[in-house]
This record gives sequence, structure tokens and C-alpha cells, in this order.
Amino acid sequence: MAKRRGKFIVIGGGLAGLSLAMKLCEHNAEVVLVSYQPVKRSHSVCAQGGINAAINSKGEGDSPDIHFYDTVKGGDFLAHQPLVRDMCFQAPAIIHLMDRMGVTFNRTPEGHLDFRRFGGTLYNRTAFSGSTTGQQLLYALDEQVRRYEADGLVTKLESHEYLGAVIDEGGVCRGAVIHDLHTSEIFTLGGDGVVLATGGPTQVYGRSTGSTVCNGAAAMSAYLQGARYANGEFIQIHPTAIPGQDKLRLMSESARGEGGRIWVPRKPGDDRNPLDIPEAERYYFLEENHPLFGNLVPRDVASREIYDVCINQGLGVGGEPMVYLDLTHHTVEYLKERLGGILEIYEKFTGDDPHKVPMKIFPAVHYSMGGIWTDYEGDGHGLIDHRSPRNQMTSIPGLYAAGEADYQFHGSNRLGANSLLSCIYTGQMMAPGMVQYGKNLNLHYEDVSSRVFESARQEWQGRFDDIKRMNGRENPHVLHRELGDVLLSNVLIVRENPKLEKALTLINDIQVRFREVKCLDTTHWSNPAPSFINQLHCMIHLAKIITVGALKRNEFRGAHYKPEFDLKQPDNFDPHEYVDYLEKLQYGEVAGTEFQPGHLEYMKRFEANNKEWLKTTIAQHRDGEPTIHYEDVDTSQITPRPRKYE
Ligand code: FUM
Repeated sequence: MAKRRGKFIVIGGGLAGLSLAMKLCEHNAEVVLVSYQPVKRSHSVCAQGGINAAINSKGEGDSPDIHFYDTVKGGDFLAHQPLVRDMCFQAPAIIHLMDRMGVTFNRTPEGHLDFRRFGGTLYNRTAFSGSTTGQQLLYALDEQVRRYEADGLVTKLESHEYLGAVIDEGGVCRGAVIHDLHTSEIFTLGGDGVVLATGGPTQVYGRSTGSTVCNGAAAMSAYLQGARYANGEFIQIHPTAIPGQDKLRLMSESARGEGGRIWVPRKPGDDRNPLDIPEAERYYFLEENHPLFGNLVPRDVASREIYDVCINQGLGVGGEPMVYLDLTHHTVEYLKERLGGILEIYEKFTGDDPHKVPMKIFPAVHYSMGGIWTDYEGDGHGLIDHRSPRNQMTSIPGLYAAGEADYQFHGSNRLGANSLLSCIYTGQMMAPGMVQYGKNLNLHYEDVSSRVFESARQEWQGRFDDIKRMNGRENPHVLHRELGDVLLSNVLIVRENPKLEKALTLINDIQVRFREVKCLDTTHWSNPAPSFINQLHCMIHLAKIITVGALKRNEFRGAHYKPEFDLKQPDNFDPHEYVDYLEKLQYGEVAGTEFQPGHLEYMKRFEANNKEWLKTTIAQHRDGEPTIHYEDVDTSQITPRPRKYE
């Protein structure tokens, strides 16, 4: 009998989906790659600044272990450490792999791979392709997947939308319900496993650096079908974006990695041309407040500082929540070589030439650290067992998640240039386990009753028919804008419980009004209106998860800043002293006097603060609402301590 070939459905054609598809094909599995848009327009294409790997080509003493430490600390100790460690140790091999595939990484004059700095580290650890790194990586992986497509292993369905999982009576995922965005046909696909590599959900905020398709609908569909959603409240606000009426565009952290300086005029309301403001009258607040990390503090820290300077101190440029990002000290040649793509974008959308005048930038919603809960299996040595079918599996057997759609790698705040890494890494890491999962199955999708598939199809067909019949007074796009405004006003950089409670009430109102939505177009050919209404329904659920998670997490951690729970560190506090103290305590060597009493008190409050301390938030859908519980984070390798970025 011929050996059965595994078959997997990969939803999403970004870096995570392509990396996984390629790896599955290396294992001789068949892949159906489903993408909402042309694969080469997946949101990974928008990534600019680079991808991290501690290759230490500049001889600074960098190492995967330091990368691991920086990432865990950057995420404020809320990421499972074996996963982060495994990712950081795989990172150099991933860069070399992508290099061999022909990615046009910048190189030093000697021909070595070049690296630059990014936030949250003191090392030049970020490999880059000018400032279009995501595009170069995406195109390289796309090329590889096309080879397998030519060989017949990959079937690509572009302009197709994932609607939901086909789940059998035993609760096992056997396939996916798919919507052809041209013909409006709804059909099912069967497979040994389905992977949601569907990217992030930041469009729930209405305006973000995310592509307009980054609405989290696939992840929410999984949640509504019973999958757990983790750490939803951790939304990254990128400190530097280009303001825009239509959408917000990223101004890469690499601009600061290349020496860009953030400042505001010291005098409130100073409306002079920035070039006429002398050095002494400029407030380089990140450099002054964080002499060691300067402009390259992690994103949560930088965004809070910008917020403080603009909102609390009233120093924003032109009275707006904006600051200058200044690259004018560099030569045009230097900037073109290293940052060409993003500076062109800035000029195109603002009309100002950033080679000549400081850019005006402000923080914008950028990334979700939270996502679908997924599992992993350690190898017993602090790394991951790559053969385990548990890796990246959601709480629905057979349904997997990868990339920004999952939650595992960045804790409560992602370091810049770690996302491209986590996407490619997850795809590579999870493939062998998925293949094994397929082999272990007692029953394959081909042998599952066709009724299971047909009933899933009918359910979605019915839902879309119902949507097309919606004929109320509410415009779904207006509701979306209002939903985004609720989150932008109440669940952003600074979070306060009364505002979060208000946000929940407003979201509930929107959910009620959603029933009165009008489907603006009911035709069948290339009609995005019904899909958008379904996506809006999903975004309302996501908004609730984010807000309830934020309300319940009564602590200040990473991107989740609640001033009320900001335990101010005593002067001269050194977290390392505390760790030494704990170690000595463990060995019975300590006399209480060795640790300053005030400091000990602080650490006790820091640790005993709440039930969310070092816990993952898990949201589960019950009767239309998220119920929340908490799960331990694996902190077995690096002791959590208060973060400092002086
Ligand atoms: O700033 C940037 O180039 C973005 C990178 C990232 O989100 O990792």
C-alpha cells in the first residue's frame, strides 16, 4: 500500500505561513495555502527595520543567551522562557538560511552581514535589508513555496477567506471552512491539521500600522469555537508612526537604530522651524532620562515617555501629541543606503523631506503580543522538543496557530525586530510536530463523515445568508470607527480602571447596535461587505477580550501601564541586589540586614501584588462573554525582576 502523505491547511501567506508551508513540504507533506490577499501582499511585507539574531559579527560579545535575556526582560518576564530561548538559539541559523535563499541583506564593506541596533538591547543584533526587510524575506520564502507549488505539493488559494474550523463530534479539527472572495462560494477543505498564521488584529483599534486586513477575525473565529485566547490586553504601541487620515504608517525603529534622535522644543508651544531651534533649547528626553539605552529603550518605555512629554508636560510639537524624529545629521547617501524605503514613504505621505527636516511622528497601535493560546513541549534542557505535536497547537486538537496570531514569544512587550524572527522560527519549529500529529491520528480527515464537513459549510452559508439579509440603520464602517475610538480613548498607553469599565459599556452598546447593521451590498461577485460585517462581529468580541483582560490585570507590566499599580522603585534600588539576596536566602546565608529594608518591602509588594503576577491571561468564550482565568508563566531560567532601562 502506498504511504499516505500528510496534508495540512495553512491559513495565511505571511512569513509564518510561508515558512511553515516550506518546512511541511520538506517533510513531503501536502499543503493548501489559503490567503485573504495575494501572498506577496501579506502584512509581513510592511515590516521594515530588520530581524534579530545574535551572530556577533561585530565582535561585541553578543550571544543567543544575551538575546534570550533581552527578549525575556523586554517582555517583562511574561513569556515562557524555553520557547524564547529556543527561538533565540535558532535565530542565527535562520538568518544564514534566508541569506542563502538570496535575501539582499545589507553587508559591511568586508562583505559580512551587517547588523544594526534596535530597541531593548545594547548590541548590534538586527540584520536588515535597507528598510524593506519584511518584503525581502517574504519574497524569498514565496519563491521557495512556489517551487513546491510547481512540484504539486502546494495548492495556493489566494483571495480566499478562512471562516472557521471543521470540528468533528470528538472535538477534533478536521478541516476549514473557506470563502471564495470572488465568487462568494463557501466550501470546506479537509486536512490533518489547520494552522492559523493569520497575523495580528490591530485593526480592532480602527487606526494602526497594521494592514486593513489585520482584523483578528480568524483568531476570533477560533475563540468563538472554543479556543483559548491569551494575553489579549497586551497591545504594542509603536512609538514612531507617521500620522495619516486614512491609516497610520510605520516609521521604523531602525531610524533610531541608525542614530535618529527624538526631541521636542523645551518651550511649550514653540512654533519655530525645528531647524532654527538651537541644541540647548531641545529636549532629548529619551537620551536624558535613559542615558544608557537612549533612543533605543523598548517600545513600551518609549511610548510612555512620549505620552508623558506630550500629554502631561504639554510639550508636543505644535501642541499635538507629536515629537520630532531627527535624522538630519546624517548624509543623504548614508540614509539612502540604510533607510531609503521608509524615508521615501515619509516624504510621499507628508510632503516633507526627512533628509532635510526632522520628521514629525507619534505613537500608534502596532502589534498584539496576545493571541490564540498555543501549547509547547520542552526538551527537558530548557529548549523545545521540535518533534512534539503539541508545539503551537491551540486548545482545539488539530488546530494550530503561528506568528502574530499566537501569543507565545513576546510576553507583555515585544522587542523590535523579534517578530519577523518569531514568525519564521515558529513555522520551522512546529512543522515536524505537525507531521507527527498527522501520523499519530487514528482517524484521518478522509475517513470523517462528509456530514461533519457539510454541516460546517451549511452553518457558515446560513450565517452569510443572514448577514446579507441585515437591513438595519447602522453602517458597519461607522460602528468599526466608533469601536476603534473607544479603544483608542480608553485602552491605550495609560489605562485606568474607571475608563476601562466605561469602555466595556460602550463596547456592549456597539454590540447591541451591531444587530441593526445594514449589509450595504448583497451581490455575489467580489463583494467584501458581508465579510466585513462578519469581521466586525469578531472585532467586537476581540475588543471585549482586550478590555476585560486589561481591567482585570491590576498591575503595571510591559505595555500594560496602570499608573495606579505602578509601584515606584525606591531610590538606588538595584534588582540584582535582590536576586543576590534571594540566592543567599536559598542557601541560608543571609541576615535580614543585608538587604535594605525599604527595598525588601518594595520587592514583596512587587511580587505579592496580585493574582495576575507572572501569569498568562486566558480568555474563553462563554455565552457571548469572555471569562478570564490565569495560567503560570514558565520563568524557570531567568529570575523575574523589576525592569530598568537607565
Ligand atoms: O520599527 C520597525 O521597523 C518595526 C519592526 C518590528 O515591529 O519588529
